[in-house]
Amino acid sequence: MKKVFVPPIKSQGIKTKLVPRIRQAVQSDENGKWVEPFMGTGVVGFNMRPKHALFVDSNPHIINFYQAINNGQITPAHARAYLENEGRLLAENGDEHYYRVRKRFNQTHAPLDFLFLSRAGFNGMIRFNQKGRFNVPFNHKPERFSPAYVTKVVNQVQYVFDLCRMNEYTFVCQDFRDTFEAVQANDFVYCDPPYMGRHVDYFSNWNAQDEEDLFQLLATCKSKFILSTWHSNQHRNNPAILSLEGKYHVVTHEHFYHVGARETNRKPVLEALVMNYHPSIYEPLHTGQYRQAALLETKAAYQQDKE
Ligand SMILES: C[S@@+](CC[C@H](N)C(=O)[O-])C[C@H]1O[C@@H](n2cnc3c(N)ncnc32)[C@H](O)[C@@H]1O
Repeated sequence: MKKVFVPPIKSQGIKTKLVPRIRQAVQSDENGKWVEPFMGTGVVGFNMRPKHALFVDSNPHIINFYQAINNGQITPAHARAYLENEGRLLAENGDEHYYRVRKRFNQTHAPLDFLFLSRAGFNGMIRFNQKGRFNVPFNHKPERFSPAYVTKVVNQVQYVFDLCRMNEYTFVCQDFRDTFEAVQANDFVYCDPPYMGRHVDYFSNWNAQDEEDLFQLLATCKSKFILSTWHSNQHRNNPAILSLEGKYHVVTHEHFYHVGARETNRKPVLEALVMNYHPSIYEPLHTGQYRQAALLETKAAYQQDKE
């Protein structure tokens, strides 16, 4: 299996585990562009290595960080010097230094400080309070930035840096509704919106109206798309799945979220990929059979999580 590249920014909704499945299902045209209206960490699009891409998110800090790599303001060498210096200060001063950087970031929004917080914050979470301030606590690992760890993160920056130089990428901070206006017939859209009721924060305030607007835009989307959504958890099915199953091809994959601080908050979720085309690798399944199979998969995942 092809290796999955892990990006420099971390986040609780990261789709690293789904990349191989998404890669199998994508049917993109080399001449078209990859459009990702909810890029998050960028793990999906960066692993597709498109020639042309429009990466979008409503979180300006994600976009600033990748724009800085794209325009050469951040190079792998800058990232190394920065992480070595901040890592040394963290080792010497512990949480005092983490909170100093967090305060500085909330005043200046420096993209490298965002990288530092993403790697030294609790559980690699990205979360902002109601005033838009980053508020993730320290992960209590003052020795975090060992030489090997710094090299690992710098290599991740290098990967994105090289991709940006070999290809034509644009990073834009905007609402998904504006992104669909740029979609052409030979593009490919990958949508991974926030899941309603989960990971909600200042930049990710997802509600029923957003979901309805997104579904309407997808219904009239000019190009092929994949929508990532949740199918079910141990308590219930996603009510939206029923209407999507009627119109599109839906396949499910087990995926574990690591969101909450406590083990008990880490519930298994059955992920679904929804496509407006028939991906050749997946056999069509009768909906009834499919739902039954999906339910069994969820129960098995939940059981595994408890053990
Ligand atoms: C589930 S995450 C995407 C995760 C990404 N696929 C990954 O693997 O890292 C959803 C993203 O949508 C962004 N977002 C939330 N509301 C948005 C909106 N109205 N328009 C554009 N992006 C939005 C959030 O900032 C977040 O980064």
